[in-house]
Amino acid sequence: MIAAQPQIDISELRPMAFPRAVLTCAPECFDVIDVKNPFMVGQQGKVDCALAKRQWSEMMRVFQQIGIEVKTLTPVEGCEDMVFCANPIFTGLDGDGRPVCVPGHMRFPSRQREVGSHVEWCRANGYRVVDLRSSDLFEGCGDALWHPGRRLIWGGYGPRTSQRVYYELADIFDAPVLPLELRTELFYHLDTCFCPIDEKTVLVYPPALTAPGMDLLRDVFERVIEVDAYEARDSMACNAAPFLGRHVVIQTGAVKVNRALLDLGFEVIEVETSEFMKSGGSVFCMKMHLF
Ligand code: ARG
Repeated sequence: MIAAQPQIDISELRPMAFPRAVLTCAPECFDVIDVKNPFMVGQQGKVDCALAKRQWSEMMRVFQQIGIEVKTLTPVEGCEDMVFCANPIFTGLDGDGRPVCVPGHMRFPSRQREVGSHVEWCRANGYRVVDLRSSDLFEGCGDALWHPGRRLIWGGYGPRTSQRVYYELADIFDAPVLPLELRTELFYHLDTCFCPIDEKTVLVYPPALTAPGMDLLRDVFERVIEVDAYEARDSMACNAAPFLGRHVVIQTGAVKVNRALLDLGFEVIEVETSEFMKSGGSVFCMKMHLF
């Protein structure tokens, strides 16, 4: 793990292909039952299930329209958060370009029950499954994010993931990990406050990260788009899903972020995720990237 290495030259890192497929799970069993994060406070019993299904289907349509292949897991009764497919595992390519899946160690029991379905799917689809040796918390792609197009992992840690797991991830994937500490309970996963859009561009909500983390990302990204409190919290703008270094699928209403992305030439596609934000998630975490 690299602690703090100023002036990292991204162009010197090995390239990595953009994911062209995603693993998803329909919100058949989706609900807010217990409070796992501050977004969920007061939302028990408030999910409109029919609306959630429509929002999910529309999101899948958008992914396909961009050219992303959509694969699905079978929803499991008692796994009310299974729609948030980014969390129970972390996927990537190892140093030899082979697909690997690392199962997560989820903090909450209902989410621990999700991991098996993901792992089974990965095994059946050509992934090597590598278990972490430690039992430390690790919430997959909620906290560990690939740098777009390069062999570099951003390692978020705090409420759901232990910093220690990143020593193992760096070995498993033969890729450097840059740590980013989460300093609030509200922005509990890295994907709620940090969104690498392409090799040079990132969305970030600075108050959610510590000063060393902010310094590190400013060293790496040429273009740092700072998201304001309203767009970060109420539109979960940093939970946008970038694809192929060109398209960004984002919760509707993050006006300033959209303008900044459009000005930089990205194609922005807005979708409505109101029902899922009641559970603390939006576009990014509703799919696991596949290689
Ligand atoms: N209710 C889920 C949880 O608290 C939401 C997860 C959303 N995922 C994300 N990466 N932001 O675990």
